[in-house]
Amino acid sequence: YWTVDIDVDIKNIYPQVVEAAHYLKEGEVVAFPTETVYGLGANALTDKAVAKIFDAKGRPADNPLIVHIANVDQLDLLTKEIPETTIKLMDEFWPGPLTLIFKRKPNAVSSLVTAGLDTVAVRMPDHPVALALIHTAGVPIAAPSANKSGKPSPTMATHVLADLEGLIAGIVDGGPTGVGLESTVLDCTPEVPVILRPGGLSKEEIERVIGQVDQDPALQHSESSPKSPGMKYRHYAPSAPLFLADGDKEWIQELIDQKRNSGTKVGVLAPKESASFYNADVVAVCGSRSNLKSVAHTLYQALRSFDEKNLDMIYAEVYPVQGVGAAIMNRLEKAAAHRRVTQGKTEK
Ligand code: TXA
Ligand code: MG
Repeated sequence: YWTVDIDVDIKNIYPQVVEAAHYLKEGEVVAFPTETVYGLGANALTDKAVAKIFDAKGRPADNPLIVHIANVDQLDLLTKEIPETTIKLMDEFWPGPLTLIFKRKPNAVSSLVTAGLDTVAVRMPDHPVALALIHTAGVPIAAPSANKSGKPSPTMATHVLADLEGLIAGIVDGGPTGVGLESTVLDCTPEVPVILRPGGLSKEEIERVIGQVDQDPALQHSESSPKSPGMKYRHYAPSAPLFLADGDKEWIQELIDQKRNSGTKVGVLAPKESASFYNADVVAVCGSRSNLKSVAHTLYQALRSFDEKNLDMIYAEVYPVQGVGAAIMNRLEKAAAHRRVTQGKTEK
């Protein structure tokens, strides 16, 4: 596990935090930074406040929200059953990019938060601004990622503004987020815990602490219905169709050339090792292949950068499905709606 190096001067922005906490107490929604992505927060205890989150994002009502807490005592408000495995995980990884699913305590949070499920998702974010905000508001804060439904999650305050300006009470700007991808969602209600969404904390890191965990099989097969309702929606997508390009850079350049020769405007998403090799209409760089965390950190920013460029299509390089690579590939697969071209196979 790594610590997220987030450079914010909490003393400097504390007045913003106090103002944002005031809005939250009044039942308004505000965006705030976490170590993963920006969240759009509301008081998790009141329907009216939570409803504003769904309205602003255009989020389907059957997609439940994560409840954010600033200290472990707040968990007692949300659940009566805290399994042994979750205690180990909380000790090791909270605050951090791990969301745990618990049996829900009846009549605790707004039923809009849990979208009618008998479970509740909870996490303690590892960000001084998020922790100060939740603490100052004095209530658990329901917060999805602060993007319009379907768009990549925001890793900078400007992304939040681009999607939600005029629809929310405000944003606390804490600079770019650290991890860059959302938290890992782990269901601890079954005997063997199940990863419902790969994220900032890898399967390998979780297994080091509690032994074997499973992965929701629906994550591999797009046809079966996932246990995390949010995973069934198209997501993370730039406006131009994206294709995963599984092959070497020379072959990918040939694909690009073929398309461009027929007048198609082509973007490419690549790490710094190969980015300068490509000749395309837009090349967006995301981190370094030698450090997948750097790819995660800049992935959404790179995906968003294509949108102003009026492209017809985008090719994205693929990454090994190990460590945070599992989450990177999960997001890219969704952004591509599973479209993939593979070297040595004929294109469909
Ligand atoms: O890193 C993160 O998790 C960010 C920051 C803001 O904390 N939040 C985030 O929230 O990504 P959101 O709403 O964009 O994604 C929450 C995911 C969705 O896939 C949702 O379906 C799932 O968690 N989820 C929430 N409650 C659940 C529950 N009770 N059972 C299963 N899945 C749940
Ligand atoms: Mg989201």
